[in-house]
Amino acid sequence: MKLLCLLFFLIIVADPCSSQNTFFEPGAIWKDTEGKHINAHGGGIYSEGDTYYWYGEHKGQSSIAQVGVRVYSSSDLYNWKNEGIALAVSNDLDSEITKGSVIERPKVIYNNKTGKYVMWFHLELKNQGYAAARTGVAISDSPTGPFKYLKSYRPNANVWPLNFPLSNQKRTKKNELYEWWTPEWKAALIEGLYVRRDFREGQMSRDMTVFVDDDGKAYHIHSSEENQTLHISELTDDYLDFTSRWTRMKPGGQNEAPAVFKHNDTYYMITSGLTGWAPNAARSFSAKSIWGPWKSLGNPATGKLAQVTFNSQSTYVLTVNGVEDTFLYMGDRWNPKNHIDGRYIWLPIKIKNKKPEIEWFDKWALSKYNSIQP
Ligand code: DGJ
Repeated sequence: MKLLCLLFFLIIVADPCSSQNTFFEPGAIWKDTEGKHINAHGGGIYSEGDTYYWYGEHKGQSSIAQVGVRVYSSSDLYNWKNEGIALAVSNDLDSEITKGSVIERPKVIYNNKTGKYVMWFHLELKNQGYAAARTGVAISDSPTGPFKYLKSYRPNANVWPLNFPLSNQKRTKKNELYEWWTPEWKAALIEGLYVRRDFREGQMSRDMTVFVDDDGKAYHIHSSEENQTLHISELTDDYLDFTSRWTRMKPGGQNEAPAVFKHNDTYYMITSGLTGWAPNAARSFSAKSIWGPWKSLGNPATGKLAQVTFNSQSTYVLTVNGVEDTFLYMGDRWNPKNHIDGRYIWLPIKIKNKKPEIEWFDKWALSKYNSIQP
């Protein structure tokens, strides 16, 4: 029976008579409905009714933002219509999102209370490399935008994380003068070296995602502490701010590229390690509460090229509408020599023995059969 389900799930469809896409082909050039290579890297998906909206970084040859965040729409996840620029970079040199800044990993959620679409993204200020480490937020009345830029900052200034002992809050500077990568440094890092350093200014926020729970509460999950530790923060009811409730996940764990999803009351997270644009082995975690504790489940990728996650880095996990318990891994195959040529690696996630598993398929399609094995 399991085999039958799997066979149905992986219907390898190729219809040469149709210009419509009927399957995913990870790593190939994916064209939009006008025949142009889709330009939506580090993306995320928001769905409303029967429509999916795919937001991503519009890249040129370099990864610097020259255009902004592009959005595509689709009703089947295979065929994507270009809906234009959802959040445009600014021509004003004084703007934080001026042309030449870095805008990465945009994620959009809808707020039921305000009726607004909210976009969060990783922002680096122009000519500062990755030093600013901010999160930015923009708002719109429509899923396709235009999104209006509101602000950016390092979050959680002047608030300690949950469960952060008083002894860690009070450590003296003298204790922190360790050399990088020594065991003493690692121990100090785990005990909050950078949390204390950035306490007043706010915590660093680089690779990020947002996750809306069943009760409507939203969370911002980002790489912080010089990318050494992920932070999970609750957003306010309008999704436009941080509530000051936040926690550290796997201190010193060196996780970035977080993607969160939920299945049967269990939260799952997929992340990568820290190797810049180069791929590495993904990691996976589960928890009974978004606040943790998070259990490490190892690399969810299986088979050939699992050690480099099929040459990709996670960006989002999509829960597919109407196909019960079907989760789709969305990853980027970066091309740092020519970013516009970065490719999309979308693959099914199966939950086996309470662990996510991702297998490679050259071509695959969704079916009404789900990907979950009991
Ligand atoms: C890896 C991150 O996941 C990407 O989003 C990007 O920030 C690169 N690092 C930059 O080196």
